[in-house]
Amino acid sequence: MYLNKKGKVPNQAHVGIPEGFCEEEHGRDGFAGPVSHLYRTHPPTGWVKIEGPLKPRAFACAQLSMNVTPSIAARPILMMQSQDASLFLSILTETMDHFVRNADGDEAYFVHQGTGRFETDYGTLPYEPGDYVVIPKGTTYRTHVDAGPSLFLIIETGEPITVPDRGPLGQHALFDKGVLVAPELGTVESAEVKGQEWEVHIKRQGSSTRVVYPFYPMDVVGWKGDLWVAKLNVRDFRPVTSPRYHLPPSVHGTFRAGGCLISTFAPRPLESDPEALRVPFYHQNTDYDEVLFYHQGDFFSRTGIQPGMLTLHPQGIHHGPQPQAVSAAKGKSYTNEVAVMVESKTPFTVRPEMETVEIKDYALSWSRR
Ligand SMILES: [Fe+2]
Repeated sequence: MYLNKKGKVPNQAHVGIPEGFCEEEHGRDGFAGPVSHLYRTHPPTGWVKIEGPLKPRAFACAQLSMNVTPSIAARPILMMQSQDASLFLSILTETMDHFVRNADGDEAYFVHQGTGRFETDYGTLPYEPGDYVVIPKGTTYRTHVDAGPSLFLIIETGEPITVPDRGPLGQHALFDKGVLVAPELGTVESAEVKGQEWEVHIKRQGSSTRVVYPFYPMDVVGWKGDLWVAKLNVRDFRPVTSPRYHLPPSVHGTFRAGGCLISTFAPRPLESDPEALRVPFYHQNTDYDEVLFYHQGDFFSRTGIQPGMLTLHPQGIHHGPQPQAVSAAKGKSYTNEVAVMVESKTPFTVRPEMETVEIKDYALSWSRR
């Protein structure tokens, strides 16, 4: 359809929004499709009551392990899933005594807490907070914990996890593939490899197949190719910003897997132009469910959110900055947040266990002053 316009509106989106009005972006296909900007007299998130499946939800998911039995906590806990992605929380207090292999999909581990190393077919890879470790489907591995507990957000995708095309920014934007770290072979202690049986637990469609080897299965002495376990730390993620224009969250895209997008909100300067919007515009995510996992710092569009929390904003319901965050942003020139966003084209179904760590009044947090 052609560009149309009614009423008195700013000519430039996200700039010079008249005092007392709220700008909503109503668009399709994330932030890349047809779009209009609506200028409202009230924030569209200012409801005083909301019921039904599109209610925004928040979870203190780092507390999840306290509510399940130790035997369940040792395995990743499924939090929610869609046809595009399954999100797990894994809390490990000790090194795994067996290996695992995921035959359902690729996995991106995001390390929220703890240090240790992944011992994989491709070698050994140390981890620390802020690491993404991407493990291709079919890789055998286990996790060594240095000093527990280690806490991981795991994003499992049926489609392969790739680095998205950067368009006109060029292939070295956000991060150069040269900063990806591969595992090193031959760093396993020799005492571990002799005289014992080793189990590999293979996951396929939710059930587990157990394989026992009379030899140490991490016996790769060399490999080459373009499929390997890769690590990216958020320190090496260099966000794109504009001093004069609030760029949409899609500029922070880090990995893509079919209908699942993984993005990183990393420390960055805020817009310096006094006319430019400095917090996200209101929108509905009409084509994606949106999950945010908060890793560290003060999240610039939310107040009352702590590291280790996770929010879900389903497609079709508005979200945007909370009123307290709008006023707080006025005095800030920089945000130190680190958060991981997972967007899914198909809707997420939340596991009932998540209700035990749900922050019940989150959906009303925009109308609270
Ligand atoms: Fe959003």
